[in-house]
Amino acid sequence: MTVKNFDIAIIGGGVIGLALARALQDSAGSVAVIDAAQDIPPASFAAAGMLSPSFEIAERGAAMAEQLYRFGAYSLSLWADYARGLEDETGLSVDYRADGTLGVAQSNEELDAWKEQADRVSSMGGNVSIISGDECRALEPALSPNIVGAMLAPSDAQVDPRRLTDALSKTLWGDQVTARITEITKCGDAYRLVTSDGTEYGAGRVVIAGGAISGLVSREMVFPVKGEATALHFAEGTVKRVIRSDGAYLCPKAGGRMVIGASETRGRDDFEIDAAAITALKKNAAALVPALTDSRELERWSGLRPGTPDGAPILGRDESGCFLALGHYRNGILHTPAATEAMAALILGIEPAAELKAALAAFGPARLAAR
Ligand code: GLY
Repeated sequence: MTVKNFDIAIIGGGVIGLALARALQDSAGSVAVIDAAQDIPPASFAAAGMLSPSFEIAERGAAMAEQLYRFGAYSLSLWADYARGLEDETGLSVDYRADGTLGVAQSNEELDAWKEQADRVSSMGGNVSIISGDECRALEPALSPNIVGAMLAPSDAQVDPRRLTDALSKTLWGDQVTARITEITKCGDAYRLVTSDGTEYGAGRVVIAGGAISGLVSREMVFPVKGEATALHFAEGTVKRVIRSDGAYLCPKAGGRMVIGASETRGRDDFEIDAAAITALKKNAAALVPALTDSRELERWSGLRPGTPDGAPILGRDESGCFLALGHYRNGILHTPAATEAMAALILGIEPAAELKAALAAFGPARLAAR
């Protein structure tokens, strides 16, 4: 049997795997992306595409919160050029919008929590401010009169993750293999990969960029955090910014599609869609933007976020020499440009940008293996 060999095999065809293949294919020989497709849909398919470093640090321990914020903020700073470059290369829109995020409060207690968050983000150098309910409605007239104030992050942006996936795929000229890898064995300086149907591949280097249930890293390191979401039809322009609250986030996309997410459930690795979760999201969204109350549902879906014990991604190399670029939890889309740049530097043996050195030191797999 002839085994097909690649210089680099990237396991996982979500945005991180695809973006890394794009970054490596000019200089690293044959680069293949191997993805389990329908067997394990990438988390990118379910993501909302918010590029919001200030909004995802609340639960982390202080040290990791700062690393995460800095990494996310650096990645956000790369996004405008990244989106433009991808669109120029492919002729496909990724629906990049830099209209900012409003984290809205429906009570004074919620507003106090946003104030605390704003103080933390400001102390790390972030550009956020607290605004009143009237100022919220001046920015977004569709917001409910019940909104008492918000944290505004004017530099935040968003993209459409499915369009992003399509554009990234279109840039690749190497193999894109649909298969589930079940075994990776080190053979001298190279690796042997076996798929669920027994097909074998060889690879000089392996990058694991698979999701929460790939089975290629332990569940202690990466575990599924299920999320359900829905998209409602809305008149384009009714809401410009991403709106976030405790009960739902609202992301206005091209073509009158309002993505509303997301539930968060640990301990489940199925893709069933719980009708009650969707009903709750719609109710919470309509409490923020009453015009959504009778909006037509376009789609509902579920996905598995790749969670990690400290909520930070895993970027580095394991003891067998495989590169790891996974566990981005709620931030895979935001992290794509920075994670790609960091991992490409590591794989190609070049000096990473100063902003990425601290991230590579903080996000290595050893921190979890040692727990
Ligand atoms: N980043 C949004 C989510 O994971 O639901």
